[in-house]
Amino acid sequence: MSATGYVLDGAQSEAVDRLAVLGERRRGVYLHGPVGRGKSFLADALFDVLPEPKKRVHFHAFFQELHRRISERLHERDAVARAVRELVGRAKVLAFDELHVHDVGDAILMTRLLEALQARKVMIIATSNYPPDGLLPNPLHHDRFLPGIALVKELMDVVELNGPHDYRHLRGAPRSRFETGAIIRTASPPSTPVILDVNGRAITALGTEGTTIWFDFGDLCEKPTSAQDYLVLADRFDDWVIVGVPRLRTRGEEARQRFANVVDVVVDKDVRLTLVSDHPLGEIVGGEARDLARTASRLELINTTG
Ligand SMILES: Nc1ncnc2c1ncn2[C@@H]1O[C@H](COP(=O)(O)OP(=O)(O)OP(=O)(O)O)[C@@H](O)[C@H]1O
Ligand SMILES: [Mg+2]
Repeated sequence: MSATGYVLDGAQSEAVDRLAVLGERRRGVYLHGPVGRGKSFLADALFDVLPEPKKRVHFHAFFQELHRRISERLHERDAVARAVRELVGRAKVLAFDELHVHDVGDAILMTRLLEALQARKVMIIATSNYPPDGLLPNPLHHDRFLPGIALVKELMDVVELNGPHDYRHLRGAPRSRFETGAIIRTASPPSTPVILDVNGRAITALGTEGTTIWFDFGDLCEKPTSAQDYLVLADRFDDWVIVGVPRLRTRGEEARQRFANVVDVVVDKDVRLTLVSDHPLGEIVGGEARDLARTASRLELINTTG
């Protein structure tokens, strides 16, 4: 396995050696560590050298699609196994970027998914900001995922990547900006809202102009939008402005999770993000909302100009 183009740090070199062995043995890998250490980069390099049939999926989007397919056939036998078969197809290697588990429903589904992948003898390559024992961190519910954690450890070798650099910080000028106050962007949004058809769902934008899109927080995060939708939108628009971003702890868990997904997708797709809010950034993602820790860390890249 080679990961050319970059000078690897010590932690990355060690991880590459282990991944090479696991790749040879077709053993699953669970690569975890803090943000920006190169987990996705190394997981991709491993994935690339493994033979077909294989499939790489974005964890949020895959999971939401799985939810949808299962809910369509709730009364059928083996609903989970069938949905997994449809989604995974013939793949013998499945790469999941950014695996995390934040509620009991996801924990149960994740466990069933792992069982189905085990039955299909699929090698899993996962990256995560959480060690397996830290998944479903909420202490009230953590026990519900113990069977899932046991399966993670059974199906994958756990590799920690915790080098000295957050390479995203080293990469120079951040792509994101943060503005406080009313809309103080030089170009204010076009005055006519548009309704976009995204994956068959109607999503309202405050306006679009070329590849720039303006959203109201409520339209984007407090309606039933999905990570799948953000991926489609990120392909069409590479400059996003989200207006009216609230203190997230004052909103429901679903809105918070959607916002976290938006941030994940825009960071992955290298979309430029501008948040417009009446509150400073620390108050937006601060508070006891632990599910926002990774989001807060990703938003640290944002220049505070307000
Ligand atoms: N050794 C390196 N030298 C220079 N750039 C690197 C190096 N390793 C990784 N990068 C780059 O740093 C950025 C962050 O890496 P990557 O996305 O793999 O991090 P990550 O650990 O998956 O982070 P997250 O937990 O936020 O998903 C990427 O653009 C990647 O290409
Ligand atoms: Mg990553």
